[in-house]
Amino acid sequence: MTTIEVITRSGESLSVSSENDRSLMEAIRDAGIDELLALCGGCCSCATCHVYVDEKWAQTLPSITEDESDLLDSSDHRKGNSRLSCQIRVDAALEGMKVTIAPED
Ligand code: FES
Repeated sequence: MTTIEVITRSGESLSVSSENDRSLMEAIRDAGIDELLALCGGCCSCATCHVYVDEKWAQTLPSITEDESDLLDSSDHRKGNSRLSCQIRVDAALEGMKVTIAPED
């Protein structure tokens, strides 16, 4: 299990524990945080699972793919630390990572 800190749009900080090798999107949704819409179910085609990864952790993650980057370009709220949470696999190296749910587009 890996625990990740999730900051909601209202600024609430929640600890989300997840089994490893699941997507961060699934972990957040399964924790009952339904403001992360994840409309495409993790197929990398909607960008409604957009999160900001704390800078300290952004370098730890695998590089962003071209598909993920192209999709993030469709968001008005893209920042340098933007990622799609359905494209992030939870593993032990991410213990304690902090992510913030991006504003809705
Ligand atoms: S859930 Fe649709 S792109 Fe991540």
